Amino acid sequence: MVALARVRAGGEDAGVKQELRGAVPLSGAFLDEREEELVLDVLRSGRLSLGPMIDRFEEAFAEKLGVPYAAAVSSGTAGLHLLCVSAGIAPGDEVITSPYSFAASANCFIYEGGVPVFADIDPRTLNLRPDAVREAITPRTKAIVAVDIYGYPCELDDLRAIADEHGLALIQDSCEALGALYKGRPLGAHGPSAVFAFYPNKQMTTGEGGIVTTHSEEEYRLLRSLRNQGRGDSGGWLEHVRLGFNYRLSDVSAAIGLGQVEKLDEILPRRAQVAQVYDELLGEIAGVELPLADDADHVRSWFVYVVALPDNATRERVIGELDLAGIGFNRYLPSIHLQPYMRERYGFREGLCPVSEDLSSRTLALPFFTSLERDQQERVAETLVTAL
Ligand SMILES: Cc1ncc(COP(=O)(O)O)c(C=O)c1O
Repeated sequence: MVALARVRAGGEDAGVKQELRGAVPLSGAFLDEREEELVLDVLRSGRLSLGPMIDRFEEAFAEKLGVPYAAAVSSGTAGLHLLCVSAGIAPGDEVITSPYSFAASANCFIYEGGVPVFADIDPRTLNLRPDAVREAITPRTKAIVAVDIYGYPCELDDLRAIADEHGLALIQDSCEALGALYKGRPLGAHGPSAVFAFYPNKQMTTGEGGIVTTHSEEEYRLLRSLRNQGRGDSGGWLEHVRLGFNYRLSDVSAAIGLGQVEKLDEILPRRAQVAQVYDELLGEIAGVELPLADDADHVRSWFVYVVALPDNATRERVIGELDLAGIGFNRYLPSIHLQPYMRERYGFREGLCPVSEDLSSRTLALPFFTSLERDQQERVAETLVTAL
């Protein structure tokens, strides 16, 4: 098994510096000869796009999650955008989402003219608080984008009940949560359409890519058309039946994806094991809050290992030590509403979502990937102890 560790720490450039020091990277993909073989098959077939590998990848993915349809796309963001189009989000429609997420959770509907409304999060789960979502509903609300942040399932049934009651679309941003279980069943398999993302720091990768799962054949057909420039099922290459996009995944990427799906049963438990080692090593360190443990209804799929420190000053001190030791880190996650473009466009300010803002100021992602070794984790733990 060749585990290719892609070095990323505090931004792409910092990665190079860290590689030279032989340091502990922040994240890395888990690939072997199987992906090489599948990619070679595609290259030799000459079918580099819209070929049979896309169908094989989609079928394998759908089967793994127990969903009827999966449409591969060029990124998680593209998948979210297509679900916003499918939900009919139009200029002026309000969409409620989590501030404690990656910017794409909000950007996806802004592309369609939707207006972001941020509801605050639960400090335990870091996911949307259903009662905060309820309070944020107005006559202009059109949809909810629910995020399963850091792979921890959101309160799906509560959010679904709210959406049904108010006639809202519910879009699941499960980009970080492939393999997570809500009430015993995988995310994606519950009904609402969901999106998973495959950047190399994710549980599985296609280089760049994403996939949308849906329970509706009609939506699946729409997604296939939208990702392919709005072409119809039976029309020619130059016939466009609707406004579409080029959000296709290439067959080369799909080949990597198929190899990854085949080894998910190895990847997910290994990541859970890595998390368990961190729990053990960091559990006794005063001032370090560990990620929330699973319960009967929520089983996390491990995307990143994010700890909360007492305050921002402590976090910066820890970051200083990690950087010196050549250990990867990132300030996961800034609150979306306080990003410069959000302040400028919508006038959002501090105080809008206090729980999210507080956590944004003191949460920290530590190195985390499938092949992370115990001795590397011990170095991370020792560095944390020194800093604290
Ligand atoms: C919560 C969340 N949503 C959306 C995305 C977007 O995925 P992509 O980078 O593939 O466009 C990501 C990726 O990091 C994510 O973490």
